[in-house]
Amino acid sequence: MTIDASSEPGQAAGPQSPTDRLRQMRERTLEGGGPKRIEAQHKKGKMTARERIDFMLDEGSFVELDRFVTHRCTDFSMEDQKILGDGVVTGHGRIDGRPVYVFSQDFTVFGGSLSETHAEKICKVMDLALKVGVPLIGLNDSGGARIQEGVSSLGGYAEIFWRNVQASGVIPQLSGILGPCAGGAVYSPALTDFVAMVEGNSYMHITGPDVVKTVTHEVVTSEDLGGASVHNSKSGVAHFASSDDKSCLLLIRKLLSYLPLNNAEAPPFAPTEDPLDREDLALDTIVPADPQKPYDMRGVIERVMDEGSWLEVQELWAMNMLIGFARLGGRAVGVVANQPAVLAGCLDIDASEKAARFIRFCDAFNIPIITFEDVPGFLPGTAQEHEGIIRRGAKLLYAYCEATVPLLTVITRKAYGGAYDVMASKHVRADVNIAWPGAMVAVMGAAGAAKIIHRREIQASDDPVATEKARADEYDDTFNNPYRAAARGFVDDVIEASKTRPYLIRSLELLITKREDRPVRKHGNIPL
Ligand code: HXC
Repeated sequence: MTIDASSEPGQAAGPQSPTDRLRQMRERTLEGGGPKRIEAQHKKGKMTARERIDFMLDEGSFVELDRFVTHRCTDFSMEDQKILGDGVVTGHGRIDGRPVYVFSQDFTVFGGSLSETHAEKICKVMDLALKVGVPLIGLNDSGGARIQEGVSSLGGYAEIFWRNVQASGVIPQLSGILGPCAGGAVYSPALTDFVAMVEGNSYMHITGPDVVKTVTHEVVTSEDLGGASVHNSKSGVAHFASSDDKSCLLLIRKLLSYLPLNNAEAPPFAPTEDPLDREDLALDTIVPADPQKPYDMRGVIERVMDEGSWLEVQELWAMNMLIGFARLGGRAVGVVANQPAVLAGCLDIDASEKAARFIRFCDAFNIPIITFEDVPGFLPGTAQEHEGIIRRGAKLLYAYCEATVPLLTVITRKAYGGAYDVMASKHVRADVNIAWPGAMVAVMGAAGAAKIIHRREIQASDDPVATEKARADEYDDTFNNPYRAAARGFVDDVIEASKTRPYLIRSLELLITKREDRPVRKHGNIPL
């Protein structure tokens, strides 16, 4: 580690002009932990903290803050080991011309570990980002608390956590995990809105493999414990997985293009070449005639939204629910959709939590929500009940009920039972609800319904199979269509699927000025 106390500003540095001294000092700030550690970083396929910032931000836009900050630790001979910047590069810059604040941890300096001053630098950009209403991007690559600093470092983390929470719902907070992120340190990214990880080179876990082995006797690698694939497919902690640093940083840029700078702004408008009145005949046949047959709801989303605008979030977790950003007529929207291709599109715990958090993000940041619905109900079984589908499924209901952004719902096929209510129905105050001609808005499927309400008749019948079928057909005709709901005004119209895009675009244009209040209160009590 570079040992050079004279690198502190203000100390004598020989017969140099002030400008030469400044130049020398600035050069030192670029050295990080020195060439060997930078080489080691590159060998792992990782960029340095500065390279990441330079790559992610618009060229030449970065303005660094606190480059001369050094730690104040005097234990463990640390006073002899001071590196300018203290292991984190902070400042502001632009992405697509729009301002952002950023911090990027430098693993080449004490493993990117967080000292009191390192934390103060991060807190400064957090405070500024919140004050001026600009997104904050954190690039994490750190060994955690600076071990030599003890509780000062822990206090630094808590200062960051507190700010994460104050900023939540006010400015977008995006986290890139590009190296280790362990122990309590994981809670800062966890409190932010989106977590993007790099496959093979990043991990997040509360306790590492050694502790796990001691306590549970499990032998596991950091990658298997908390790598990008685990958090993108199993835990739901992360939202994106990228193959390397560059693709992760590009993804953060792209994600930002859908988001407003803060909660008082509208998301950016992106003019589209895709005609606003485009009808898509393929949509008329995209849903199989057999209601038991699956299809990929992504095909619906991609055909309705502006061409190429669909950015799926948490693609590999709770795959029975799709969430993501897209554009409709140039306006950014959040999409929430049942996925009939997985678990028949049933709602379960993970799907509910996935969608609920996304809806609350969109609602906080003025992003209208388009819901595509094809849901046969909640997933039955002891696993779901015992894990708390009642409490945890309620989150989705809560999120829709409290949302005040424009809510537009398209029922493509099934809207059954309680799931009908939950999925942005008129009753939870959706603004526009339309159904496709094959939609089935009912308490349940016809076969199940006939079995229950005509049980005695079926049992007594000479030909129970034929009777059951006849009764099911009858139920089908009466209830399993969109017209009962349309007759009550619970769906505003039944339209040909091919006309969905122009219908939604016209509706969205009107709804963009929607203003709705909720009762004054400190905060609601979402069933967490
Ligand atoms: C001080 C640290 C450090 C730390 C790493 N270094 N972690 N210095 N505090 N937490 C230093 C190393 O001494 C080394 O210095 C350099 O960073 C690179 O570390 P290596 O071990 O050589 O790198 P690598 O093999 O890639 O391993 C990375 C690592 C490992 C897995 C992160 O360093 C490690 O396990 N570090 C300790 C992790 C940890 O227990 N942190 C505390 C977690 S508790 P030299 O000079 O040799 O280059 C926590 C609580 C937060 O964070 C609570 C918040 C509420």
